[in-house]
Amino acid sequence: MRLVITDDYMEMSRKAAEWIAGEMKQKPGLVLGLATGSTPIGMYKELIEMYRKGQIDFSQVTTFNLDEYVGLHPEHPQSYHAYMWKHFFSHININKEHVNIPPGRFENEKDVCSRYDEKIKKSGGIDIQILGIGRNGHIGFNEPDSSLSIKTHIVNLALETIEANSRFFPQKDEVPKQAITMGLGSIMEAKTILLLANGRDKAAAIAKTLMGKVSTQIPASLLQLHPNVTMIMDKEAACFVTENKHVREWSFAYQSEGIG
Ligand code: GLP
Repeated sequence: MRLVITDDYMEMSRKAAEWIAGEMKQKPGLVLGLATGSTPIGMYKELIEMYRKGQIDFSQVTTFNLDEYVGLHPEHPQSYHAYMWKHFFSHININKEHVNIPPGRFENEKDVCSRYDEKIKKSGGIDIQILGIGRNGHIGFNEPDSSLSIKTHIVNLALETIEANSRFFPQKDEVPKQAITMGLGSIMEAKTILLLANGRDKAAAIAKTLMGKVSTQIPASLLQLHPNVTMIMDKEAACFVTENKHVREWSFAYQSEGIG
């Protein structure tokens, strides 16, 4: 794993966007796995800015989002569909047909999940998967459990996730109790993974992800098994990690080499 520690959220967002832009220039038909939550908003803003300046072109890019709340209509303001159009897609020249987000409303759970996995496969697989991280170490909506699903599936949200995400809803009891999420299989099959984290409340999850045992109780710890993971985080999120002298030297070595 490569670790890049930044001074603040802005720098984290800029570095992530610059890296993606660099990859897009090399491969215009990039397949991007995208995340929601507050963490990637700054990165989306930077990418929009680069697009406006004519530096990048999304016309050939395909995207797959990690997850969606079960039960929410795409136009529901708290749905991840609405989030993605508000914070990113409406501001760039992406082809609507190339945008994939798991639906929150469906008739047949099995069909909808297997269709999503099939579509990812047909696209040739994800080139870069962007991830945030939950305070409990979840990625996508893969919550800590005694076992984790490989495929896209429906998941019951952990109480702490409902609690954490209630800040986006008018009332806590409006937070859906279930989500549809890409499984660990599609995430781990991505050629490159870029995990972003900021703020002190992510520090424990980050330390366990990087330095703890690989365990389904900390889903992000499975990333230790992936050959090409870069984590960009601000110093707050990295604060427990940088207490470890070995990791500190290791991350600085990577920073001086640059990312990508
Ligand atoms: C949600 C999303 C995750 C995201 C996490 C952290 O649960 N499903 O993909 O990484 O929240 O969100 P935030 O970035 O707001 O802390």
